[in-house]
Amino acid sequence: MARALAPSKIIIAGEHFVVEGEPAIASAIDLFADVTAEESYENAIRIESVDLDNRKHVIKSTLNERIIDYTGKEKTKKTLRPILRAVRKTMDFLNVNTGIDIYINSKIPPSAGLGSSAAVAVAASAATMKLLGFELNKETVWKAAFEAERIVHKNPSGIDITISTYGGMILYKKGEKPVILKRSEKAIFLIAYTGKRMPTGKIVEEVLNLKKSFPEIINPLYISAGALTKKLVDYLKNEDLVNAGKLLNINHELLSALGLSTFKIDLLVNIARKKGAYGAKLTGAGKGGVMFALVDKDSLERVKEALTKRAKFVYEAKIVDEGVKVF
Ligand code: PMV
Repeated sequence: MARALAPSKIIIAGEHFVVEGEPAIASAIDLFADVTAEESYENAIRIESVDLDNRKHVIKSTLNERIIDYTGKEKTKKTLRPILRAVRKTMDFLNVNTGIDIYINSKIPPSAGLGSSAAVAVAASAATMKLLGFELNKETVWKAAFEAERIVHKNPSGIDITISTYGGMILYKKGEKPVILKRSEKAIFLIAYTGKRMPTGKIVEEVLNLKKSFPEIINPLYISAGALTKKLVDYLKNEDLVNAGKLLNINHELLSALGLSTFKIDLLVNIARKKGAYGAKLTGAGKGGVMFALVDKDSLERVKEALTKRAKFVYEAKIVDEGVKVF
């Protein structure tokens, strides 16, 4: 038996813009995907997941990824299909072909903007590698998880799997080596979940279509987001949370201009700002999911209490330095 833990993430700035090559800042947080891999006596890949409502979902395929059984609805198939791909690709990269059972126990709300599918894919790949007797090779895990992400949506930037694999806080640009950032000691990221799930793939596509339809109007927003993200790195490094907060607010409005906010997200963002957060914005794909507020220890309780009244859950995210690990 082998086990792997991979952290989820928040995108601090630059989501969506990162898909088209602008930089983004992301951070690993202390909500983990916990995956166990066991030898199977069948020539099959079987994946079992227990969701946050304690419902069990199972998918089973041949070694060639032909699905032979699944429980429940089409949604089970859709959610677990990428994980199947991550496991299969890991075996391909290691030149192994064998039956395997995967058990997923994730504490990350799915489709919420916290990179749940990426964290699970990363942990599934790492657990598979360990079970098959190989040392953890993060590059291979990344490559296998990237194939999984491509099923979730056609055009992934790779930021989610990078952060789940390597951890910490990074400045990420598609196709470039991520820059590790020193994190602020003062900054606290308080996340609040609207309770509404959102389909990342579809939303990314809608944004790209909007950009294609109105390039002269939308392209400047991308340039602005890129500049903002680079400046934010300095403010966070220098513990200038006042200016960091201003930029986060601008980032939220840029995402709003792309049609990504909702009444509920705006409500939470405005509550957080009113109660003394330095800044607040949606994070992840938008149209639901989560937002976060940048606070310090003086404003934490006030903002937390106000958000708790309106959000499905509120969580004080701790940044974790380590990426995926195996046991
Ligand atoms: O909603 P999430 O957590 O899957 O975040 C997606 C981030 C995007 O920038 C919207 C897409 C991407 O591939 O980077």
